[in-house]
Amino acid sequence: MNNLNQRKLLSEGKTKKIYEMKNSYKVILHYKDNITALNGMINESFQDKGILNNEINTFIFDFLNKSGIKTHFIRKINNREQLCHRMNMIPLEFVIRNFVSGSLSKRLKIKEGEKIPNSIYEIFYKNDELNDPLINDHHAIFLKIISYEELNFVYDMMKKINKILKKFFNSKNIILIDFKIEFGKNYKNEIVLSDEISPDTCRLWDKQTMKKLDKDVFRKGIQKSKDMFDIYMEILRRLHTI
Ligand code: TMP
Repeated sequence: MNNLNQRKLLSEGKTKKIYEMKNSYKVILHYKDNITALNGMINESFQDKGILNNEINTFIFDFLNKSGIKTHFIRKINNREQLCHRMNMIPLEFVIRNFVSGSLSKRLKIKEGEKIPNSIYEIFYKNDELNDPLINDHHAIFLKIISYEELNFVYDMMKKINKILKKFFNSKNIILIDFKIEFGKNYKNEIVLSDEISPDTCRLWDKQTMKKLDKDVFRKGIQKSKDMFDIYMEILRRLHTI
């Protein structure tokens, strides 16, 4: 039997399923068609979203791997699935902001679209009960989620990833407004970029028109879930444009 078929469901999130593979430090990531907002309170779907997101994530993670960033991504297996290294996830969401938008705009009452010259790095504690609060370095260390040295390493990786992705999206006529990333530890206890990078987790604006090309359009109720296909397709089309 094909090793890839010897799988057991490990966990199921809002937009992905993770299968563990027998006797292996690898997992299979399966992309579902769900699209969510307000921390999962709104949960809808559109046809083939999982296929598009698998394709987009494959493109971005493949590019990051080739750019020297250590990621969990190994290869795409089929139209909805990827083979990845198994991670022990760090329960933090790291947000990198190049322009003001979203919760930062609301929190500090600053107009969306203002440039942030040196970028802002934020940490959110992944905890459903607490509604994923914004915390700082000291909180994360106090909570024993991450050490000071590990946090320094993560900040260094975030800077590198941001530099690579800003340039990459710029070449696709897209401004990388902000994005969220997650890290895990592999079986050697090394910190590795994990989870996903897609229009679900980034704010991507067209360079000329400033049109939003990401999930914000759904979050803000500008587009219905069924109309989101065109936006994800547009991102994929641009990724494949040289
Ligand atoms: P925010 O402005 O709502 O804090 O979001 C910042 C970035 O992080 C934005 O690109 C969307 C992304 N993000 C996620 O991917 N998942 C989340 O749960 C949240 C809150 C934000």
